[in-house]
Amino acid sequence: MALFDLNDRVVVVTGCLGQLGRQFTGALAAHGARVVGIDRLGDVDGAQTLDGIPLLKQASGDGRLLYLGADVTDRASLETARDKAEAHYGVPVYGLVNNAALDAPPDSDAREFGPFETYPVENWDRIFSVNAKGPFLCCQVFGASMAEAERGSIVNVGSIYGILSPDQNLYQYRRDRGETFYKPVAYSASKSSLYNLTRYLAGYWGKEQVRVNIVTFAGVHNNQDPAFLERYLPKVPLGRMADAADYNGTIVYLMSDASAYMTGSNVVVDGGFSAL
Ligand SMILES: NC(=O)c1ccc[n+]([C@@H]2O[C@H](COP(=O)([O-])OP(=O)(O)OC[C@H]3O[C@@H](n4cnc5c(N)ncnc54)[C@H](O)[C@@H]3O)[C@@H](O)[C@H]2O)c1
Repeated sequence: MALFDLNDRVVVVTGCLGQLGRQFTGALAAHGARVVGIDRLGDVDGAQTLDGIPLLKQASGDGRLLYLGADVTDRASLETARDKAEAHYGVPVYGLVNNAALDAPPDSDAREFGPFETYPVENWDRIFSVNAKGPFLCCQVFGASMAEAERGSIVNVGSIYGILSPDQNLYQYRRDRGETFYKPVAYSASKSSLYNLTRYLAGYWGKEQVRVNIVTFAGVHNNQDPAFLERYLPKVPLGRMADAADYNGTIVYLMSDASAYMTGSNVVVDGGFSAL
């Protein structure tokens, strides 16, 4: 177990209130990290929200979670979060999980799922702002603390749709129903950018012993349409969507000394999706 013990390391998880962020926060805390959970709700709203999320309530009750409201697209709010976190825990940040992301914005109009030719540039900008600029800014702000302390680990959360194109045939059933639906371009293109951010920083911060890796995850169970599952699951050798907790081991591993000689790598955890 010592190999995977996180030894009170202070680890920032962005998007900690989301489906996977709460899992990563709970798993890191359970392995001995002190987590700084960041999301878009303000400090007070977020702290109240934690009560409704058992994994976060537990980590917070154990003194292993400090929730801070911050926007990953806003450098000043990240600097404030870093200063509050370091004052609270009394040591520089050790790790960062760049997890916050936007897929299709929830309030997007029909053009989000329309043809590529008319995909709105403002949607492209919003998604790139969170998914590409966000990790870049978090690496600048929190990575700087790690580089100065000459140790640390950054994990960028990628997606199979950042290494492969979405297969539009998977969504043909929606077009057959009369809907206009194409899986949009911006999420895939933005996630792709993280692979070279990872490699760039692995080279740049190697001497400072800051390790930078990326994880490539596939779709997670979330009440998907049975018609979608009927088409998607045959493409997954393990024959199922991921459970929300399936990725926790990878995140703990990359924050621990078990991965001490690993940097610039892409860890693919996708049930075999990209093997076919
Ligand atoms: N769920 C999946 O099927 C899946 C598959 C592969 C990869 N991923 C990746 O895993 C990560 C987590 O996905 P999820 O499904 O948990 O997403 P989610 O939508 O449930 O959670 C994302 C969180 O990020 C937060 N967030 C968004 N914009 C922000 C901003 N500007 N500043 C701060 N926080 C912000 C949201 O409030 C939310 O709590 C993402 O990077 C996603 O691309 C997810």
